[in-house]
Amino acid sequence: GSGSGEDEVKTYTVATEPNFHPFEFMDPETGEMKGFDMDLIHAIADEAGFNVEIETMEFDGVLGGMRSNKYPMAISGISITDERKKEIDFSDKYLDSGLILVVREDSDIQSIEDIDGLKVGAQAGSTGELYLHDHTDAEISAFPEIVTAYMDLASGRLDAVLYDLPNAQYYINENPDQGLKTVGELLQGEPYGIAFPKGSELVEPVNEALATLKENGTYDEIYKKWFGE
Ligand code: ARG
Repeated sequence: GSGSGEDEVKTYTVATEPNFHPFEFMDPETGEMKGFDMDLIHAIADEAGFNVEIETMEFDGVLGGMRSNKYPMAISGISITDERKKEIDFSDKYLDSGLILVVREDSDIQSIEDIDGLKVGAQAGSTGELYLHDHTDAEISAFPEIVTAYMDLASGRLDAVLYDLPNAQYYINENPDQGLKTVGELLQGEPYGIAFPKGSELVEPVNEALATLKENGTYDEIYKKWFGE
């Protein structure tokens, strides 16, 4: 190093919403953030040569923080959409996901066609909430934390919840006593990307690091750790 500070390792704040198993969640024992996204962003940072500091907030705030340039980066199971691309930059996709409808096991609802006029929950600012507005006449309730919506569904205050399949599947598997199930097809395929304020210079190094991790097996290791084979 020349001593000018140019070689110093930079630390970037990464915004995330911390209630999205198995992508980002707080370990109750240690208070540390864990999950697929957390492992991935740390691996990317190692590869690209910077440090990351995780900052948690509501999902609305994660997207708002990209639009207002408040944080340099966000990883939060964020779906890459054309609408968001107008205001936010994205990395290449790192996972394929999509939306699924969740109902009680004894429900008559069989698909999204059946929910008009019914009470349906979604996470505030999520693609699930937008989908309900754009494609249904459901009575929509938007929740800052999706777990509240799942609990309201289990207790009968909601008729359905629309959310990302991996998280819905995880919640159903981990909470069999809640008596929930998914119905119908994946409603819309959604690729996840790392988000940046428009024009960020971090997009390119992050994409390069992501490509390297996919080539050298690190991505596969992280995937297996959280999703099995
Ligand atoms: N994929 C959905 C979206 O981008 C939901 C993401 C929710 N993520 C979270 N960490 N709660 O709108």
